Amino acid sequence: MNLILLGAPGAGKGTQSKLLQEKLHIPQISTGDMLRAAKQAKTPLGIQAETFMNAGKLVPDEVVIGLIRERLAAADTQQGFILDGFPRTVAQAEALGTLLKELGRSLNAVVNLEVPEAELIARLTGRRNCSNCGAGYHLQFSPPRQDSVCDRCGGPLIQREDDREHTIRKRLKIYQEQTAPLVAYYEKSGLLKSSLGTGPTDEVFNSLVVIVEGR
Ligand code: AP5
Ligand code: MG
Ligand code: ZN
Repeated sequence: MNLILLGAPGAGKGTQSKLLQEKLHIPQISTGDMLRAAKQAKTPLGIQAETFMNAGKLVPDEVVIGLIRERLAAADTQQGFILDGFPRTVAQAEALGTLLKELGRSLNAVVNLEVPEAELIARLTGRRNCSNCGAGYHLQFSPPRQDSVCDRCGGPLIQREDDREHTIRKRLKIYQEQTAPLVAYYEKSGLLKSSLGTGPTDEVFNSLVVIVEGR
């Protein structure tokens, strides 16, 4: 199963694609996570990406397309993949189309997670992640048992640098300008499926599974 999860910042792409990864046994491929790892490791790619990310801007298309090209060459994607945060521009969607054709693969579905803007802001300002294992939390909606400590591994919870309100607003604006056009793009190719991203996480997940399994 080859899937794309579309959605604004905070729509729940990361949360839902991690759950789908466990259920479908295919990898989640998050360009955001890959870029954050590169930033953390201070690789040339990470250093290049950092300024864009911290300002809430998109990293240049050729950089992320290169990352995806490399990632989709790995053996663990042969049975399928869940793209989270890629593509994000029409140019990226076109490059993905060309790449998949070269690889003799095709997309099964593009799911758009819909969440109203006020809720996106509340989700992003309260998000925390474990700096050790990456597990996701929300101060109100899914708080850790102990303040600032990961339930799973005991690691410290941190806030993403781009989750300050000013940068969140910038990301939402860029989403509207550059990524929202992908909804129409995939609608035209008949692959688009919309899913309500609001409500409890497990309910969002159940509807998502119904959608991707085509039941
Ligand atoms: P990226 O990491 O992809 O960030 P994003 O798209 O802004 O999305 P988020 O990760 O913020 O949100 P999400 O949808 O994953 O939500 P989550 O599940 O965490 O990209 C970051 C940056 O990297 C970009 O700005 C750009 O610079 C660069 N980049 C990445 N990909 C790129 C590309 N392709 N091209 C160019 N640049 C690129 O949920 C959010 C919060 O809500 C969490 O706290 C969660 O616990 C909570 N939550 C989730 N579901 C629910 C629910 N149902 N109810 C209540 N709370 C919920
Ligand atoms: Mg994410
Ligand atoms: Zn942890």
